[in-house]
Amino acid sequence: MWLNEDTHRRATQTLLEIQQGHAARATVNMLVRRLVEAESNQRGYALTGDRAYLEPYTAALESIDGLLKQLNTRAPREVLDSDAMLSFRNLLSQKIGEMALTVRMRQEDRPEVVNFVVTSNVGLEQMRAFSLQADALIAQAEAIVATKRAEVFRLLNVSRFGLAAGVLAAFFAFFLYVNQTRALREADSRQKQLLEAERDALESQVRERTARLTELANYLQQAVEDERAHLARELHDELGALLTAAKLNVARVKSKLPKDAVDVTERLQHLTETLNQGIALKRRIIEDLRPSSLSNLGLVASLEILTREFADRSGIEVVTALEPVDLDANSELTIYRLVQEALTNIGKYAKANKVHVNLKNYVYHAEVSVTDDGVGFDPADLPQSSHGLVGMRHRVEASGGRLDVNSQPGRGSRVSGTIPRRSAKQQQELAAAVSAMSADSYKASPAPLTPPDAAR
Ligand SMILES: Nc1ncnc2c1ncn2[C@@H]1O[C@H](COP(=O)(O)OP(=O)(O)OP(=O)(O)O)[C@@H](O)[C@H]1O
Ligand SMILES: [Mg+2]
Repeated sequence: MWLNEDTHRRATQTLLEIQQGHAARATVNMLVRRLVEAESNQRGYALTGDRAYLEPYTAALESIDGLLKQLNTRAPREVLDSDAMLSFRNLLSQKIGEMALTVRMRQEDRPEVVNFVVTSNVGLEQMRAFSLQADALIAQAEAIVATKRAEVFRLLNVSRFGLAAGVLAAFFAFFLYVNQTRALREADSRQKQLLEAERDALESQVRERTARLTELANYLQQAVEDERAHLARELHDELGALLTAAKLNVARVKSKLPKDAVDVTERLQHLTETLNQGIALKRRIIEDLRPSSLSNLGLVASLEILTREFADRSGIEVVTALEPVDLDANSELTIYRLVQEALTNIGKYAKANKVHVNLKNYVYHAEVSVTDDGVGFDPADLPQSSHGLVGMRHRVEASGGRLDVNSQPGRGSRVSGTIPRRSAKQQQELAAAVSAMSADSYKASPAPLTPPDAAR
Protein backbone atom coordinates (compact mmCIF):
# COMPACT_ATOMS: atom_id res chain seq x y z
CA MET A 1 0.00 0.00 0.00
CA TRP A 2 2.84 2.35 0.88
CA LEU A 3 4.58 1.59 -2.42
CA ASN A 4 1.38 2.06 -4.33
CA GLU A 5 0.64 5.32 -2.57
CA ASP A 6 4.19 6.60 -3.16
CA THR A 7 4.25 5.73 -6.88
CA HIS A 8 0.81 7.25 -7.28
CA ARG A 9 1.97 10.48 -5.69
CA ARG A 10 5.10 10.58 -7.85
CA ALA A 11 3.20 9.70 -11.03
CA THR A 12 0.71 12.49 -10.33
CA GLN A 13 3.60 14.92 -9.86
CA THR A 14 5.26 13.72 -13.08
CA LEU A 15 2.01 14.04 -15.03
CA LEU A 16 1.72 17.59 -13.73
CA GLU A 17 5.23 18.30 -14.96
CA ILE A 18 4.35 16.79 -18.38
CA GLN A 19 1.38 19.10 -18.43
CA GLN A 20 3.69 22.01 -17.60
CA GLY A 21 6.03 20.97 -20.45
CA HIS A 22 3.12 20.97 -22.89
CA ALA A 23 1.91 24.29 -21.55
CA ALA A 24 5.42 25.82 -21.91
CA ARG A 25 5.63 24.61 -25.53
CA ALA A 26 2.19 25.97 -26.36
CA THR A 27 2.98 29.31 -24.66
CA VAL A 28 6.28 29.68 -26.55
CA ASN A 29 4.44 28.93 -29.81
CA MET A 30 1.82 31.51 -28.93
CA LEU A 31 4.53 34.08 -28.09
CA VAL A 32 6.16 33.52 -31.46
CA ARG A 33 2.79 33.95 -33.20
CA ARG A 34 1.96 37.13 -31.25
CA LEU A 35 5.38 38.59 -31.89
CA VAL A 36 4.99 37.94 -35.67
CA GLU A 37 1.56 39.58 -35.44
CA ALA A 38 2.98 42.63 -33.58
CA GLU A 39 5.85 42.92 -36.04
CA SER A 40 3.64 42.82 -39.14
CA ASN A 41 1.32 45.47 -37.63
CA GLN A 42 4.27 47.59 -36.60
CA ARG A 43 5.63 47.33 -40.17
CA GLY A 44 2.21 48.18 -41.60
CA TYR A 45 2.09 51.32 -39.44
CA ALA A 46 5.66 52.22 -40.24
CA LEU A 47 5.09 51.93 -43.99
CA THR A 48 1.62 53.49 -44.29
CA GLY A 49 1.27 55.56 -41.15
CA ASP A 50 -2.23 54.17 -40.83
CA ARG A 51 -3.13 54.22 -37.16
CA ALA A 52 -5.47 51.30 -37.67
CA TYR A 53 -2.36 49.08 -37.39
CA LEU A 54 -1.58 50.38 -33.94
CA GLU A 55 -4.50 48.76 -32.20
CA PRO A 56 -3.70 45.10 -33.17
CA TYR A 57 -0.05 45.96 -32.56
CA THR A 58 -0.79 47.07 -28.98
CA ALA A 59 -3.14 44.09 -28.42
CA ALA A 60 -0.39 41.69 -29.58
CA LEU A 61 2.08 43.36 -27.15
CA GLU A 62 -0.38 43.08 -24.27
CA SER A 63 -0.96 39.47 -25.16
CA ILE A 64 2.82 38.91 -25.19
CA ASP A 65 2.98 40.43 -21.73
CA GLY A 66 0.25 38.05 -20.45
CA LEU A 67 1.88 35.06 -22.14
CA LEU A 68 5.22 35.84 -20.48
CA LYS A 69 3.54 35.89 -17.07
CA GLN A 70 1.86 32.56 -17.92
CA LEU A 71 5.20 31.12 -18.94
CA ASN A 72 6.64 32.13 -15.57
CA THR A 73 3.97 30.26 -13.66
CA ARG A 74 3.34 27.26 -15.94
CA ALA A 75 6.71 26.30 -17.43
CA PRO A 76 8.82 23.62 -15.75
CA ARG A 77 11.58 24.88 -13.50
CA GLU A 78 14.32 23.34 -15.73
CA VAL A 79 13.01 25.40 -18.69
CA LEU A 80 12.67 28.62 -16.71
CA ASP A 81 16.19 28.38 -15.30
CA SER A 82 17.84 27.42 -18.59
CA ASP A 83 20.18 29.63 -20.67
CA ALA A 84 17.86 29.21 -23.65
CA MET A 85 15.09 30.90 -21.68
CA LEU A 86 17.40 33.76 -20.76
CA SER A 87 18.37 34.34 -24.40
CA PHE A 88 14.76 33.96 -25.45
CA ARG A 89 13.67 36.68 -23.04
CA ASN A 90 16.56 38.95 -24.09
CA LEU A 91 15.79 38.52 -27.77
CA LEU A 92 12.11 39.12 -27.11
CA SER A 93 12.72 42.33 -25.20
CA GLN A 94 15.20 43.50 -27.86
CA LYS A 95 12.60 42.86 -30.55
CA ILE A 96 9.87 44.58 -28.57
CA GLY A 97 12.25 47.53 -27.94
CA GLU A 98 13.13 47.76 -31.66
CA MET A 99 9.44 47.73 -32.64
CA ALA A 100 8.58 50.37 -30.02
CA LEU A 101 11.41 52.59 -31.36
CA THR A 102 10.18 52.27 -34.98
CA VAL A 103 6.62 53.14 -33.92
CA ARG A 104 7.83 56.16 -31.94
CA MET A 105 9.95 57.37 -34.87
CA ARG A 106 6.93 57.01 -37.10
CA GLN A 107 4.83 58.98 -34.63
CA GLU A 108 7.51 61.67 -34.40
CA ASP A 109 7.46 61.78 -38.21
CA ARG A 110 11.08 60.82 -38.91
CA PRO A 111 10.72 58.66 -42.03
CA GLU A 112 14.44 58.31 -42.66
CA VAL A 113 14.93 56.36 -39.46
CA VAL A 114 11.78 54.35 -40.16
CA ASN A 115 12.95 53.56 -43.65
CA PHE A 116 16.29 52.49 -42.31
CA VAL A 117 14.71 50.14 -39.78
CA VAL A 118 12.22 48.74 -42.26
CA THR A 119 14.58 48.24 -45.12
CA SER A 120 17.57 47.02 -43.08
CA ASN A 121 17.94 43.35 -42.11
CA VAL A 122 18.13 44.04 -38.36
CA GLY A 123 14.50 43.15 -37.64
CA LEU A 124 14.66 40.06 -39.82
CA GLU A 125 17.76 38.76 -38.15
CA GLN A 126 16.38 39.44 -34.73
CA MET A 127 13.23 37.60 -35.70
CA ARG A 128 15.21 34.63 -37.02
CA ALA A 129 17.36 34.48 -33.88
CA PHE A 130 14.19 34.68 -31.76
CA SER A 131 12.56 31.85 -33.73
CA LEU A 132 15.65 29.67 -33.30
CA GLN A 133 15.66 30.33 -29.59
CA ALA A 134 11.94 29.52 -29.43
CA ASP A 135 12.60 26.25 -31.26
CA ALA A 136 15.36 25.44 -28.78
CA LEU A 137 13.00 26.14 -25.89
CA ILE A 138 10.28 23.99 -27.46
CA ALA A 139 12.78 21.17 -27.99
CA GLN A 140 13.83 21.47 -24.38
CA ALA A 141 10.21 21.32 -23.21
CA GLU A 142 9.60 18.28 -25.45
CA ALA A 143 12.71 16.58 -24.07
CA ILE A 144 11.39 17.18 -20.57
CA VAL A 145 7.98 15.80 -21.57
CA ALA A 146 9.64 12.68 -23.07
CA THR A 147 11.76 12.15 -19.91
CA LYS A 148 8.72 12.59 -17.69
CA ARG A 149 6.69 10.22 -19.82
CA ALA A 150 9.39 7.58 -19.45
CA GLU A 151 9.32 8.28 -15.71
CA VAL A 152 5.55 7.66 -15.67
CA PHE A 153 6.05 4.30 -17.40
CA ARG A 154 8.76 3.41 -14.94
CA LEU A 155 6.48 4.32 -12.02
CA LEU A 156 3.65 2.28 -13.52
CA ASN A 157 6.00 -0.70 -13.73
CA VAL A 158 7.17 -0.20 -10.14
CA SER A 159 3.56 -0.07 -9.04
CA ARG A 160 2.71 -3.14 -11.08
CA PHE A 161 5.60 -5.25 -9.76
CA GLY A 162 5.11 -3.91 -6.25
CA LEU A 163 1.45 -4.88 -6.38
CA ALA A 164 2.32 -8.33 -7.71
CA ALA A 165 4.92 -8.78 -4.96
CA GLY A 166 2.38 -7.60 -2.39
CA VAL A 167 -0.24 -10.06 -3.63
CA LEU A 168 2.34 -12.86 -3.60
CA ALA A 169 3.36 -11.93 -0.07
CA ALA A 170 -0.29 -11.88 0.96
CA PHE A 171 -0.79 -15.34 -0.57
CA PHE A 172 2.30 -16.58 1.21
CA ALA A 173 1.07 -15.10 4.51
CA PHE A 174 -2.34 -16.68 3.97
CA PHE A 175 -0.70 -20.01 3.22
CA LEU A 176 1.35 -19.72 6.43
CA TYR A 177 -1.77 -18.76 8.35
CA VAL A 178 -3.71 -21.77 7.00
CA ASN A 179 -0.78 -24.04 7.79
CA GLN A 180 -0.45 -22.64 11.28
CA THR A 181 -4.18 -22.95 11.91
CA ARG A 182 -4.12 -26.56 10.72
CA ALA A 183 -1.14 -27.32 12.96
CA LEU A 184 -2.87 -25.68 15.92
CA ARG A 185 -6.06 -27.60 15.23
CA GLU A 186 -4.13 -30.85 15.04
CA ALA A 187 -2.31 -30.08 18.29
CA ASP A 188 -5.66 -29.21 19.84
CA SER A 189 -7.26 -32.45 18.74
CA ARG A 190 -4.21 -34.43 19.94
CA GLN A 191 -4.53 -32.72 23.30
CA LYS A 192 -8.24 -33.43 23.36
CA GLN A 193 -7.61 -37.09 22.60
CA LEU A 194 -5.04 -37.27 25.38
CA LEU A 195 -7.45 -35.61 27.79
CA GLU A 196 -10.25 -37.95 26.74
CA ALA A 197 -8.01 -40.97 27.21
CA GLU A 198 -7.02 -39.68 30.63
CA ARG A 199 -10.64 -39.00 31.53
CA ASP A 200 -11.66 -42.48 30.36
CA ALA A 201 -8.88 -44.02 32.42
CA LEU A 202 -9.95 -42.01 35.48
CA GLU A 203 -13.59 -42.89 34.94
CA SER A 204 -12.83 -46.58 34.69
CA GLN A 205 -10.68 -46.27 37.82
CA VAL A 206 -13.57 -44.56 39.63
CA ARG A 207 -15.98 -47.24 38.39
CA GLU A 208 -13.63 -49.97 39.55
CA ARG A 209 -13.13 -48.35 42.97
CA THR A 210 -16.90 -47.77 43.36
CA ALA A 211 -17.56 -51.41 42.50
CA ARG A 212 -14.98 -52.52 45.09
CA LEU A 213 -16.46 -50.22 47.74
CA THR A 214 -19.98 -51.43 46.97
CA GLU A 215 -18.75 -54.97 47.24
CA LEU A 216 -17.07 -54.22 50.53
CA ALA A 217 -20.21 -52.52 51.87
CA ASN A 218 -22.29 -55.54 50.79
CA TYR A 219 -19.87 -57.83 52.45
CA LEU A 220 -19.90 -55.78 55.68
CA GLN A 221 -23.68 -55.65 55.68
CA GLN A 222 -23.82 -59.40 55.23
CA ALA A 223 -21.24 -59.77 57.98
CA VAL A 224 -23.40 -57.68 60.32
CA GLU A 225 -26.45 -59.79 59.50
CA ASP A 226 -24.46 -62.99 60.05
CA GLU A 227 -23.09 -61.71 63.33
CA ARG A 228 -26.56 -60.73 64.48
CA ALA A 229 -27.85 -64.20 63.52
CA HIS A 230 -24.95 -65.78 65.39
CA LEU A 231 -25.63 -63.68 68.50
CA ALA A 232 -29.35 -64.49 68.28
CA ARG A 233 -28.54 -68.20 68.06
CA GLU A 234 -26.16 -68.04 71.03
CA LEU A 235 -28.71 -66.11 73.11
CA HIS A 236 -31.43 -68.54 72.13
CA ASP A 237 -29.45 -71.72 72.65
CA GLU A 238 -27.22 -70.88 75.60
CA LEU A 239 -28.99 -68.14 77.58
CA GLY A 240 -32.43 -69.58 76.71
CA ALA A 241 -31.41 -73.03 77.91
CA LEU A 242 -29.94 -71.58 81.13
CA LEU A 243 -33.02 -69.49 81.91
CA THR A 244 -35.40 -72.41 81.15
CA ALA A 245 -33.32 -74.78 83.31
CA ALA A 246 -33.34 -72.22 86.14
CA LYS A 247 -37.11 -71.88 85.84
CA LEU A 248 -37.61 -75.65 85.96
CA ASN A 249 -35.34 -75.93 88.99
CA VAL A 250 -37.29 -73.21 90.78
CA ALA A 251 -40.55 -75.10 89.99
CA ARG A 252 -39.07 -78.35 91.31
CA VAL A 253 -37.80 -76.68 94.55
CA LYS A 254 -41.18 -74.99 94.96
CA SER A 255 -43.04 -78.33 94.73
CA LYS A 256 -40.83 -79.86 97.41
CA LEU A 257 -41.29 -77.09 99.97
CA PRO A 258 -43.47 -77.67 103.04
CA LYS A 259 -46.83 -75.93 103.04
CA ASP A 260 -45.97 -73.56 105.89
CA ALA A 261 -42.86 -72.11 104.19
CA VAL A 262 -44.89 -69.14 102.93
CA ASP A 263 -42.04 -66.68 102.93
CA VAL A 264 -39.75 -68.90 100.80
CA THR A 265 -42.65 -69.75 98.46
CA GLU A 266 -43.27 -66.03 97.90
CA ARG A 267 -39.59 -65.44 97.19
CA LEU A 268 -39.52 -68.36 94.74
CA GLN A 269 -42.64 -66.94 93.06
CA HIS A 270 -40.84 -63.60 92.69
CA LEU A 271 -37.80 -65.41 91.26
CA THR A 272 -40.04 -67.20 88.71
CA GLU A 273 -41.49 -63.83 87.61
CA THR A 274 -38.01 -62.36 87.26
CA LEU A 275 -36.93 -65.36 85.23
CA ASN A 276 -40.03 -64.92 83.01
CA GLN A 277 -39.09 -61.25 82.49
CA GLY A 278 -35.55 -62.34 81.58
CA ILE A 279 -36.92 -64.88 79.07
CA ALA A 280 -39.19 -62.17 77.53
CA LEU A 281 -36.27 -59.73 77.31
CA LYS A 282 -34.13 -62.42 75.67
CA ARG A 283 -36.91 -63.05 73.13
CA ARG A 284 -37.18 -59.34 72.34
CA ILE A 285 -33.43 -58.97 71.89
CA ILE A 286 -33.35 -62.06 69.64
CA GLU A 287 -36.24 -60.69 67.62
CA ASP A 288 -34.44 -57.38 67.21
CA LEU A 289 -31.25 -59.11 66.15
CA ARG A 290 -32.90 -61.46 63.69
CA PRO A 291 -36.58 -61.02 63.03
CA SER A 292 -37.65 -64.65 63.06
CA SER A 293 -41.20 -63.44 62.52
CA LEU A 294 -40.12 -62.45 59.01
CA SER A 295 -39.61 -66.04 57.92
CA ASN A 296 -42.30 -67.46 60.18
CA LEU A 297 -45.17 -64.96 59.84
CA GLY A 298 -44.23 -62.89 56.76
CA LEU A 299 -43.35 -59.22 56.20
CA VAL A 300 -46.75 -57.68 56.96
CA ALA A 301 -47.11 -59.43 60.34
CA SER A 302 -43.48 -58.62 61.25
CA LEU A 303 -44.04 -54.93 60.47
CA GLU A 304 -47.28 -55.00 62.52
CA ILE A 305 -45.34 -56.37 65.51
CA LEU A 306 -42.48 -53.91 64.98
CA THR A 307 -44.76 -50.87 64.79
CA ARG A 308 -46.91 -52.02 67.72
CA GLU A 309 -43.86 -52.49 69.94
CA PHE A 310 -42.55 -49.07 68.83
CA ALA A 311 -45.90 -47.42 69.64
CA ASP A 312 -45.95 -49.11 73.07
CA ARG A 313 -42.38 -48.12 73.81
CA SER A 314 -42.46 -44.52 72.55
CA GLY A 315 -46.10 -43.55 73.14
CA ILE A 316 -46.33 -42.24 69.57
CA GLU A 317 -49.43 -43.14 67.56
CA VAL A 318 -48.60 -45.35 64.56
CA VAL A 319 -51.07 -45.84 61.70
CA THR A 320 -50.27 -48.70 59.34
CA ALA A 321 -51.57 -49.54 55.87
CA LEU A 322 -49.75 -52.69 54.85
CA GLU A 323 -50.47 -54.64 51.69
CA PRO A 324 -49.02 -58.15 51.30
CA VAL A 325 -46.10 -58.00 48.85
CA ASP A 326 -44.41 -60.64 46.80
CA LEU A 327 -40.66 -60.21 47.34
CA ASP A 328 -37.62 -62.34 47.95
CA ALA A 329 -36.33 -62.80 51.51
CA ASN A 330 -33.47 -60.34 51.05
CA SER A 331 -35.76 -57.55 49.83
CA GLU A 332 -38.18 -58.25 52.69
CA LEU A 333 -35.31 -57.92 55.16
CA THR A 334 -34.32 -54.63 53.44
CA ILE A 335 -37.84 -53.26 53.96
CA TYR A 336 -37.94 -54.47 57.54
CA ARG A 337 -34.59 -52.83 58.36
CA LEU A 338 -35.69 -49.60 56.62
CA VAL A 339 -38.83 -49.34 58.76
CA GLN A 340 -36.83 -50.32 61.86
CA GLU A 341 -34.20 -47.58 61.32
CA ALA A 342 -36.84 -44.97 60.35
CA LEU A 343 -38.81 -45.69 63.55
CA THR A 344 -35.61 -45.57 65.65
CA ASN A 345 -34.80 -42.15 64.16
CA ILE A 346 -38.33 -40.90 64.85
CA GLY A 347 -38.03 -42.11 68.45
CA LYS A 348 -34.63 -40.37 68.79
CA TYR A 349 -35.16 -37.05 66.99
CA ALA A 350 -38.61 -36.39 65.54
CA LYS A 351 -40.74 -35.43 68.61
CA ALA A 352 -43.64 -36.64 66.47
CA ASN A 353 -47.28 -37.19 67.45
CA LYS A 354 -48.26 -39.48 64.64
CA VAL A 355 -46.46 -41.84 62.28
CA HIS A 356 -47.74 -43.53 59.09
CA VAL A 357 -46.20 -46.72 57.85
CA ASN A 358 -47.36 -47.81 54.38
CA LEU A 359 -46.48 -50.80 52.26
CA LYS A 360 -47.86 -50.98 48.73
CA ASN A 361 -47.67 -53.69 46.17
CA TYR A 362 -47.34 -52.71 42.50
CA VAL A 363 -46.93 -54.85 39.41
CA TYR A 364 -43.18 -54.42 39.09
CA HIS A 365 -42.19 -53.10 42.47
CA ALA A 366 -43.12 -52.64 46.11
CA GLU A 367 -43.07 -49.29 47.91
CA VAL A 368 -42.57 -48.74 51.61
CA SER A 369 -42.82 -45.36 53.32
CA VAL A 370 -42.54 -44.06 56.87
CA THR A 371 -43.96 -40.57 57.43
CA ASP A 372 -43.94 -38.53 60.62
CA ASP A 373 -45.23 -35.09 61.66
CA GLY A 374 -42.17 -34.23 63.76
CA VAL A 375 -39.54 -31.51 63.70
CA GLY A 376 -38.07 -32.56 60.35
CA PHE A 377 -34.47 -32.02 59.18
CA ASP A 378 -32.37 -31.03 56.18
CA PRO A 379 -31.39 -34.22 54.28
CA ALA A 380 -28.57 -32.32 52.52
CA ASP A 381 -26.94 -31.45 55.84
CA LEU A 382 -26.49 -34.70 57.78
CA PRO A 383 -23.90 -35.13 60.57
CA GLN A 384 -20.63 -36.80 59.52
CA SER A 385 -20.92 -39.63 62.01
CA SER A 386 -24.45 -40.73 61.08
CA HIS A 387 -24.81 -44.03 59.24
CA GLY A 388 -28.49 -44.95 59.51
CA LEU A 389 -29.81 -43.22 56.37
CA VAL A 390 -26.64 -43.99 54.40
CA GLY A 391 -26.91 -47.70 55.29
CA MET A 392 -30.60 -47.62 54.42
CA ARG A 393 -29.82 -46.17 50.97
CA HIS A 394 -27.10 -48.72 50.42
CA ARG A 395 -29.37 -51.64 51.31
CA VAL A 396 -32.17 -50.38 49.04
CA GLU A 397 -29.83 -49.72 46.11
CA ALA A 398 -28.13 -53.13 46.57
CA SER A 399 -31.60 -54.62 46.12
CA GLY A 400 -31.90 -52.67 42.84
CA GLY A 401 -34.24 -50.05 44.30
CA ARG A 402 -34.26 -46.34 45.14
CA LEU A 403 -34.48 -44.45 48.43
CA ASP A 404 -36.08 -41.01 48.76
CA VAL A 405 -35.69 -38.90 51.87
CA ASN A 406 -37.98 -35.85 51.93
CA SER A 407 -37.89 -33.51 54.87
CA GLN A 408 -37.65 -29.87 55.85
CA PRO A 409 -37.04 -28.44 59.30
CA GLY A 410 -40.42 -27.98 61.01
CA ARG A 411 -42.39 -29.92 58.37
CA GLY A 412 -42.00 -33.57 59.35
CA SER A 413 -40.23 -36.17 57.25
CA ARG A 414 -40.92 -38.98 54.83
CA VAL A 415 -38.57 -41.86 54.04
CA SER A 416 -39.63 -44.07 51.17
CA GLY A 417 -38.04 -46.97 49.37
CA THR A 418 -38.95 -48.54 46.04
CA ILE A 419 -37.86 -52.17 45.67
CA PRO A 420 -38.24 -53.97 42.33
CA ARG A 421 -39.90 -57.35 42.18
CA ARG A 422 -37.81 -59.95 40.39
CA SER A 423 -38.63 -63.40 39.09
CA ALA A 424 -37.00 -66.39 40.79
CA LYS A 425 -34.76 -66.85 37.74
CA GLN A 426 -33.56 -63.22 37.86
CA GLN A 427 -32.85 -63.59 41.58
CA GLN A 428 -30.68 -66.65 40.93
CA GLU A 429 -28.80 -64.87 38.12
CA LEU A 430 -28.20 -61.80 40.31
CA ALA A 431 -27.01 -63.91 43.23
CA ALA A 432 -24.63 -65.83 40.93
CA ALA A 433 -23.26 -62.56 39.47
CA VAL A 434 -22.73 -61.05 42.92
CA SER A 435 -20.95 -64.15 44.24
CA ALA A 436 -18.76 -64.32 41.12
CA MET A 437 -17.81 -60.64 41.59
CA SER A 438 -17.00 -61.27 45.26
CA ALA A 439 -14.85 -64.30 44.39
CA ASP A 440 -12.90 -62.24 41.82
CA SER A 441 -12.37 -59.40 44.23
CA TYR A 442 -11.10 -61.76 46.95
CA LYS A 443 -8.57 -63.11 44.45
CA ALA A 444 -7.47 -59.59 43.44
CA SER A 445 -7.37 -58.19 46.93
CA PRO A 446 -3.87 -58.23 48.57
CA ALA A 447 -5.29 -58.97 52.06
CA PRO A 448 -8.34 -61.19 51.54
CA LEU A 449 -11.30 -60.46 53.77
CA THR A 450 -12.24 -63.37 56.04
CA PRO A 451 -15.94 -64.16 56.27
CA PRO A 452 -17.18 -63.87 59.86
CA ASP A 453 -18.17 -67.54 60.15
CA ALA A 454 -14.74 -68.72 59.00
CA ALA A 455 -13.11 -66.26 61.40
CA ARG A 456 -15.09 -67.75 64.24
N1 LIG B 1 -37.50 -38.59 61.49
C1 LIG B 1 -36.55 -37.70 61.74
N2 LIG B 1 -36.87 -36.51 62.32
C2 LIG B 1 -35.90 -35.57 62.57
N3 LIG B 1 -34.61 -35.74 62.29
C3 LIG B 1 -34.22 -36.89 61.72
C4 LIG B 1 -35.15 -37.94 61.41
N4 LIG B 1 -34.48 -38.96 60.83
C5 LIG B 1 -33.20 -38.58 60.79
N5 LIG B 1 -33.03 -37.32 61.32
C6 LIG B 1 -31.79 -36.53 61.35
O1 LIG B 1 -30.92 -37.08 60.41
C7 LIG B 1 -29.68 -37.42 61.00
C8 LIG B 1 -29.14 -38.67 60.33
O2 LIG B 1 -29.88 -39.81 60.68
P1 LIG B 1 -29.16 -41.21 60.63
O3 LIG B 1 -30.15 -42.24 60.93
O4 LIG B 1 -28.46 -41.29 59.30
O5 LIG B 1 -28.05 -41.08 61.71
P2 LIG B 1 -28.17 -41.14 63.32
O6 LIG B 1 -29.51 -41.63 63.68
O7 LIG B 1 -27.79 -39.77 63.80
O8 LIG B 1 -27.04 -42.15 63.69
P3 LIG B 1 -27.06 -43.74 63.47
O9 LIG B 1 -28.35 -44.07 62.77
O10 LIG B 1 -25.87 -44.01 62.65
O11 LIG B 1 -27.02 -44.33 64.81
C9 LIG B 1 -29.97 -37.59 62.45
O12 LIG B 1 -28.84 -37.27 63.22
C10 LIG B 1 -31.10 -36.60 62.69
O13 LIG B 1 -30.56 -35.32 62.96
MG1 LIG C 1 -30.36 -43.41 62.81
